[in-house]
Amino acid sequence: MLATALCLVALAGPGSCSNPLVLSAPVRAPSGVSNYIDNGFVSFSIAAHFFPEYAGNLTSPNLFTRTLLRVLARSTGKAPYIRVGGTSSQKLALNITQEGQDGVPKTETIGPTYFEGFYNFPGSRFHFDLANADLGPNRVPNAVAEAKIALSYIKGNLESFEIGNEPNVYNFQGYRPANYSQDDYVGEWSQIATAVSENVLTGNQYGINPRTSFQALTYFLGPFGSSSFDVTSAFNTSHVDQDGFVKSASLHIYPAGANPSRQHLFMNHTNTASTLDVLIPAIKYLATSYPNIPLVLGETNSDYINIGNQADVSAFGNSLWVCDYMLYAMSINVKRVYMHQGTTFGYSDFTPTEVRPPFYGQLLVAAAIGTSPRMQIKPVNLGLWNLSIYAMYTESILSKYVVINLEEWNETTPYDRPFRSFNLEVPSDVHVTSKDKSKYDIRLLKFFGVL
Ligand SMILES: *[C@@H]1O[C@H](CO)[C@@H](O)[C@H](O)[C@H]1NC(C)=O
Ligand SMILES: *[C@@H]1O[C@H](CO)[C@@H](O)[C@H](O)[C@H]1NC(C)=O
Ligand SMILES: *[C@@H]1O[C@H](CO)[C@@H](O)[C@H](O)[C@H]1NC(C)=O
Ligand SMILES: *[C@@H]1O[C@H](CO)[C@@H](O)[C@H](O)[C@H]1NC(C)=O
Ligand SMILES: *[C@@H]1O[C@H](CO)[C@@H](O)[C@H](O)[C@H]1NC(C)=O
Ligand SMILES: *[C@@H]1O[C@H](CO)[C@@H](O)[C@H](O)[C@H]1NC(C)=O
Ligand SMILES: *[C@@H]1O[C@H](CO)[C@@H](O)[C@H](O)[C@H]1NC(C)=O
Repeated sequence: MLATALCLVALAGPGSCSNPLVLSAPVRAPSGVSNYIDNGFVSFSIAAHFFPEYAGNLTSPNLFTRTLLRVLARSTGKAPYIRVGGTSSQKLALNITQEGQDGVPKTETIGPTYFEGFYNFPGSRFHFDLANADLGPNRVPNAVAEAKIALSYIKGNLESFEIGNEPNVYNFQGYRPANYSQDDYVGEWSQIATAVSENVLTGNQYGINPRTSFQALTYFLGPFGSSSFDVTSAFNTSHVDQDGFVKSASLHIYPAGANPSRQHLFMNHTNTASTLDVLIPAIKYLATSYPNIPLVLGETNSDYINIGNQADVSAFGNSLWVCDYMLYAMSINVKRVYMHQGTTFGYSDFTPTEVRPPFYGQLLVAAAIGTSPRMQIKPVNLGLWNLSIYAMYTESILSKYVVINLEEWNETTPYDRPFRSFNLEVPSDVHVTSKDKSKYDIRLLKFFGVL
């Protein structure tokens, strides 16, 4: 029963509740509501060559980044997962006699202190991306050696290993010939998974499953990817899980491609929804045929131009995109979203020393998820491109709305800040009084004190 209406003016300004848009969602979780949301949904991918800067080492840990992740964990009760990987992970050469590491992205030689970074994030579970792209004679032994040293530091906090990165782009990157196929990739993947399982994971002292400890695919969804690689056929035709090594499947998406435009692409719910809707067939296929294998966005952010785009993507509007993108992804049963970070990347949510605007979106998403293990979400479909609403359910009962007004406003222009007012319909037993603030609460995303 919906009875009470809460008036809310989104974006502070000279707003009033005249002419409000009425928003309502069923009180009981309706059909089509998501699965229970992973409290670790707000997760991160860190570019392998920047990991030492984000994490530090034992003598000099990065307490700043540790604190940021702790803030998220405090909201959700679960620390973000961290995946260390990406393009540069394929260029790591291991030198385990070496002390320290350097930051050269072409080929990077790493030693033991690199792995001390895993101690910087208590409570997090980790994915470590093993090299596979380089076809030299050391391909398999190098991956095994990397896995061995990584495990000795990550210990029981290992969520999974990845093997290679974006294999459907290897042809474009010059790692493989044009005829490189998904079957070829699965053959290489299985070879390394078998070697790591037998030589590193079997008999491990940390209680890690020696087989089901690998995150597969890591395909890049975008213009350079070979179209013959796809989630469903990787399982159904190329049989990537024939040996039972797959714990999760990962895709990489940068929805704005190389052409970021805030209002058109990021602050546009229609665009965000259509970008993510392409994942639905794969998610449904896995849920039916491999119910224990979730799909994650294991590396993602707004656009794939790493450098020189900060003015476009490190803006407050991008934090609204983060909210909409992450909430929509959870509504279609993506298991976790790992936003990709790098010290010099314009789109980074945070750097080793600085919080950027998009991180405020993650704070909101973490607050929306909260600590309940039985939280679900469903978008309220308004058919509007510039307004996005989600209904959230705790124990199957409507408990939160998230309202995102995506209309851009440039504060240096003279025109008035636009606003929208809403009536939120809430269950009839909800009465918001000032005494009740701790129970029923309207929170606005604040950025440097601005609503
Ligand atoms: C490995 O590190 C040691 C000690 O820093 C150095 O002497 C050696 O040249 C390095 N080997 C490679 C292959 O980089
Ligand atoms: C640990 O990190 C600090 C700060 O980046 C660096 O100066 C130091 O050389 C590192 N220690 C080792 C053993 O690499
Ligand atoms: C793929 O191309 C490479 C060289 O471009 C060639 O040596 C190889 O035989 C080809 N493989 C297949 C299966 O056609
Ligand atoms: C999976 O493969 C079988 C044949 O082996 C086929 O009948 C089925 O349609 C495929 N499923 C999907 C979702 O592609
Ligand atoms: C929003 O995105 C949709 C789908 O990509 C697009 O058709 C539409 O033009 C966009 N709207 C604006 C205002 O940019
Ligand atoms: C959204 O766009 C419509 C027209 O497309 C406009 O009337 C409205 O003011 C915009 N803003 C909001 C928050 O609805
Ligand atoms: C905001 O408006 C000012 C003045 O019109 C313009 O110079 C600036 O580029 C705009 N900023 C953005 C981020 O669009």
